[in-house]
Amino acid sequence: MSKDTRSNARRKVTVQTVAQMVEDGTKISMVTAYDATFARLFDDAGCDMLLVGDSLGMVVKGEHSTLGVTLEEMIYHLRAVGRGTRYAQIVGDMPFMSYQSSIEDGLRNAGRLVKEGGAETVKLEGGVEQAELVRRLVAVGIPVMGHIGLRPQSVHAMGGYKVQGRGEAARKKVLDDALALDEAGCYAMVLEGIPRDLGAEITRTVSAATIGIGAGVDCDGQVLVSYDLLGMNDDFRPKFVKRFDQLGLRIRTAVEAYVHEVRGGRFPDDAHSFGDEPAQKTNEATPYGSAAASAGTAPAVVDDGGAEADAIAAGCIPLPIRPKP
Ligand code: KIV
Repeated sequence: MSKDTRSNARRKVTVQTVAQMVEDGTKISMVTAYDATFARLFDDAGCDMLLVGDSLGMVVKGEHSTLGVTLEEMIYHLRAVGRGTRYAQIVGDMPFMSYQSSIEDGLRNAGRLVKEGGAETVKLEGGVEQAELVRRLVAVGIPVMGHIGLRPQSVHAMGGYKVQGRGEAARKKVLDDALALDEAGCYAMVLEGIPRDLGAEITRTVSAATIGIGAGVDCDGQVLVSYDLLGMNDDFRPKFVKRFDQLGLRIRTAVEAYVHEVRGGRFPDDAHSFGDEPAQKTNEATPYGSAAASAGTAPAVVDDGGAEADAIAAGCIPLPIRPKP
């Protein structure tokens, strides 16, 4: 029977939860998140893991690859995601050259993602060549998610974002990488851009949880870049991405309507303007009002002649910190 992670019995996802899900045959869902608002939505939607991925270089910073992302940027986005998350496991991606130059660099920088960013586990790209670092990280208590197959940080070495593991030698290389990471103690590994049957073979062979992206349905779980699954970029349509919505279109339409109303002098109307009277004791006008009220965390309103109610109606009450389970 599959586990309903959205039920009242929902618990914080840990490495032990992940291992149990693999044992039970319960598929694992992971998406990328880069800020508190999206993290909150994805966490509420029941995602098991939120990956603060270095894909932020492309979808947030607008760069052509993930290579320019810094450790400081990862820490900044990890903190934001942590503020919006209650249950999902938070995975911090090790950016390019934060772990490739030495084991010491890898240990120190993974430690910073955990200590300063609040990452619960770290992800790094590479297989056989990273096994020793994985061993050392696991030994100091940092769970590691590997990432093999198509490795975006090696885009120049691969000659582009190309499917890996096709042909006997290439297939053996990906399999060897998976075995090395498993043996080194990874609790999970991303399998990116490989043939479906290779994804299935690795999943049967390793004890770590396999999380596929363009690796077929037989993996223990799946990950997608959230902006891709939400359909926020019309120009990006790779085969492995399924768009579960067209948010790009919907956001453009909503903002076009806003622009139209501003230009036509129809926004703000009376319903969205302040009068002389003190505001009602309501938080309906706050950006997070309904969410705060439904979670029972709506800010208390005291009888101060309407000053605080005015502040709330003006949207000045910050997003309440989410209580951790
Ligand atoms: O950075 C990222 O978003 C990733 C996923 C594509 C797995 O590594």
